[in-house]
Amino acid sequence: GAAKPVIVAIDGPSGTGKSSTSKAVAAQLGLSYLDTGAQYRAITWWMVTNGIDIEDPSAIAAVAGKPEIVSGTDPSNPTITVDGVDVSGPIRTQKVTSQVSAVSAVPEVRARITELQRSLATSAEIGIVVEGRDIGTTVLPDADLKIFLTASPEARAARRSGELQGADVHATREALIKRDAADSSRKTSPLAKADDAVEVDTTELTLQQVIECVVTLVEEKRAGK
Ligand code: DC
Repeated sequence: GAAKPVIVAIDGPSGTGKSSTSKAVAAQLGLSYLDTGAQYRAITWWMVTNGIDIEDPSAIAAVAGKPEIVSGTDPSNPTITVDGVDVSGPIRTQKVTSQVSAVSAVPEVRARITELQRSLATSAEIGIVVEGRDIGTTVLPDADLKIFLTASPEARAARRSGELQGADVHATREALIKRDAADSSRKTSPLAKADDAVEVDTTELTLQQVIECVVTLVEEKRAGK
């Protein structure tokens, strides 16, 4: 019969190369891909666009079930829509980035998005690479392979400012540290390494080396090692 689908969870803070690595690994191995940060950004975009008070968790909770969020899982073309509108551009703006930690800390938001993630992961035929903050700990605790990517704050800030054209490394570093602190200290499923996750420190590695390392780990898993 067909091999059992392989489920790979990749967690870690921002600027560790999580998205680039996850997409490339999925593409190389013919797996589906899910960017869970994009889902939290999408629901945040909807809250901001609809004038919901981001400072008020109960206001966010009351409407958490309203927007319909659909993620495409092709690693060569990961799409995301809210109520049928393509939001792949708007979810990367500074406005959304600065509000996403507050919105994603609300338990009703997490419950809603976690349900979407589990249903996509269980319907992947060959398998899926799911990247986020709480995938190995909370969303898919039975994943076949869990990876936790880390890097020094300096390396993470430098990578992020490289992505955002002309951004100031200092300001980027401060904003990034603040967002990671918020994501790690929230009550409901914070950013955390699962006990059975393989930690990969990417500080001194090129993206290509990180990709090769994760591909090898997935192949070893599939071979039953
Ligand atoms: O990976 P990213 O920077 O696009 O994620 C955006 C935010 O979404 C991040 O600051 C925290 C939140 N997030 C989360 O709470 N849980 C996840 N599984 C993924 C992202």
